[in-house]
Amino acid sequence: MKGIILAGGHGTRLRPLTLVTSKQLLPIYDQPMIFYPLQTLLKAGIKEVLVIVAPDHARDFLKLLSSGQELGCKFSYEVQDEPNGLAQAFVIGKNFIGHDNVTLILGDNIFEDDFAQAIQSFKQGGRVFVKKVPDPARFGVAEFDQDGKVISIEEKPKQPKSDYAVTGLYIYDNTVVEKVKNLKLSDRGELEITDLNNVYLKEGSLDVAVVKGKWLDTGTFESLFEAITFVRDQRLNEQNKK
Ligand code: TTP
Repeated sequence: MKGIILAGGHGTRLRPLTLVTSKQLLPIYDQPMIFYPLQTLLKAGIKEVLVIVAPDHARDFLKLLSSGQELGCKFSYEVQDEPNGLAQAFVIGKNFIGHDNVTLILGDNIFEDDFAQAIQSFKQGGRVFVKKVPDPARFGVAEFDQDGKVISIEEKPKQPKSDYAVTGLYIYDNTVVEKVKNLKLSDRGELEITDLNNVYLKEGSLDVAVVKGKWLDTGTFESLFEAITFVRDQRLNEQNKK
């Protein structure tokens, strides 16, 4: 299993914090943001990680993460010239992925859950994770049938069909490389991961699991603050246990 961290984008909602640096390098309490999704991959035993970054900040990521030797993994780097959508990770990452399966995690997503079992047991198709949120219209939203099975996913719907958002960790088999080739740009000009998930869904091979612990997408001031407080509380708890 290979891993990709998508750490490009403009981070417009966090301006002026993101005018001179990348969102994923901002501090979340005692570590740069990208360390958290990275830990999620490393804890699952992933040893080869592609970091996709925006052109302006490539050097900073290289300085921070270097080869990966110290962490017991190997980093590769690619530049995404423009943030043309999450699914573009599999176009940019084609050579890196090779013949393997791949887990994509967004560089601004922090998960409390451990995904080791979900990643290590993965064989084929796709596997995504949903979480009940108060503001589903910001995300890809799952629609369930009467038996609780997901029947469709809608990207940023005006009238969400449930409160379950698709979170920023996605596991796909190697067919993802072919599948993204057939995706069309959406009305907002992006290669949508929701379209990709719907391809797997139509094929009957998308497994949808629920995230149990905390999930934070740190793209707004409020969620950034919440993430910092969450990590601080965790650290203090750990210290108190010692
Ligand atoms: P977003 O939060 O949707 O976008 P953004 O980071 O550019 O922020 P804003 O909306 O405030 O301008 O992106 C989610 C994550 O995915 C984030 O870590 C950036 C990353 N991303 C890319 O690396 N490339 C892309 O093409 C897109 C759309 C996002």
